Amino acid sequence: MNARTFVIIKPDAYAAGQVGNVLTRYESAGMRILAMDLRKIEPEFADRHYSEHVGRDYYPGLRDFMTEGPLVAVVLEGEDAVGRVRALNGATDPAKAAAGTIRADFAESMGRNAVHASDSQASAEAEIDLWFPVL
Ligand code: TYD
Ligand code: MG
Repeated sequence: MNARTFVIIKPDAYAAGQVGNVLTRYESAGMRILAMDLRKIEPEFADRHYSEHVGRDYYPGLRDFMTEGPLVAVVLEGEDAVGRVRALNGATDPAKAAAGTIRADFAESMGRNAVHASDSQASAEAEIDLWFPVL
C-alpha cells in the first residue's frame, strides 16, 4: 500500500556531503519526495522529535548531535514506505547494519548514524505533523 514516512538525513551525513547519495537510495527504491527542508533545530525541538528517548543515558549526546549543524528533513511516499525505508537505512548500530544499507555505508557509530526513519505509520504521521505542519 502507498504510504508516507518521515526521514532525517542527520547532521553527520549532511556535513559529510552525503545528502544526494542518501536521497538516491530512497528514490532508486521507488520513493517519491513529498516535502524536504534543510534546517538547524533547537534542543527543545529535538526533545519533541525524540520525546520517547528523553531521559535515557544516551539522550544528552543525541540531542547535542541533532543540534550541532544542519540536517535535512524529508517526507517520502511509496509502497510500504515505513518498512522499506527502515530496511534501506539498516540497523540502528552501523556496526550491525547489513552491507549495502545507508547506515553501513555512511554512518560511523550508534550515536552518529546518518539517518532517522519513522518506525510505524502512527509515528510517521505524528512526525510529519511535527516537522511539516502544513502537509
Ligand atoms: P531508536 O529509535 O532506538 O533507533 P532508530 O533510529 O533505529 O529508530 O533510537 C533513536 C536514536 O537514538 C538512534 O538512531 C541512535 C540513538 N541511540 C543511541 O545513541 N544509543 C542507544 O543505545 C539507542 C537505543 C539509541
Ligand atoms: Mg526510532
